[in-house]
Amino acid sequence: MEPLSFQRLAEGVRDNTLLPSLPAAVLAAQRLVNNPESSINQIASLLEADPSMTLKLLKVANSAYYGMRRRIDSIVTALIVLGLRTTNQLLQTVGIISAFSGRVEPDFLQDLTSRSVLVAMACSVIADVAGSRFNGVEYTAGLLHDMGHAAIHVIAPEHAGLLKEMGDPFTMGCEKEQALIGADHCQVGKLLAEAWGLPDIVAECMATHHRSLDGDKKLTIPGLVRFAVYLTPCLAREEPGETAHVPLPEGHFASVLSLDDILHAVKDRLDEVGEIKDLLIS
Ligand SMILES: [Fe+2]
Repeated sequence: MEPLSFQRLAEGVRDNTLLPSLPAAVLAAQRLVNNPESSINQIASLLEADPSMTLKLLKVANSAYYGMRRRIDSIVTALIVLGLRTTNQLLQTVGIISAFSGRVEPDFLQDLTSRSVLVAMACSVIADVAGSRFNGVEYTAGLLHDMGHAAIHVIAPEHAGLLKEMGDPFTMGCEKEQALIGADHCQVGKLLAEAWGLPDIVAECMATHHRSLDGDKKLTIPGLVRFAVYLTPCLAREEPGETAHVPLPEGHFASVLSLDDILHAVKDRLDEVGEIKDLLIS
């Protein structure tokens, strides 16, 4: 099998018959949700034009987590129950799942989105614990950081198949990917970010999320995503107990925070929203 060349990757990513675009309704809804001038009614009427999005939001608003006594059947009430921050996160999550749905294998999409939501939520919680406000960009960056994997599956399914045969593509690391297929998901992620017109900071997270934590003295969004990715094995464990032993480079921004507090906060949030995550991914 020919290794993937940069040129072939770039052509594949730019070929708009191959890769999905981000759903326009999701982008427009995000803009509305992030605009303090928008009214709930404006957001609701935009969402009502997308029946699958409306259905998902109603499903989440009616889930046991929100414990509503009466069934919510209007999108306006659902938006009030969920709040704009959660709505924005849900829109992005549903959007990215629907963008790749039908283009990659369902099991792979389930694994990818499950990990991506975990990292996105961790980014959001760590930013809260650290008292930083990134206006939700940290959730987007966490959610999209690994989409280079999805792009490889779409552009070069035979190379994706080889990676799968040789181990877990999510944990094998960029060097092994390079050695096996001639490219890694971070390079492809950067191309995808450019093709999607994502903000530079999100593109940087897609390109650099496996780099060393050594330079992350100050809290930045790329550093936050690297840290959340680094914590993923701890987050996936049942008990966060031994996580206090996660070694951090000297002067890392998280070394002034309590790692146990962070991990417990992330675990609590994940437990709370586990049902929502399952509803979104199913
Ligand atoms: Fe990755």
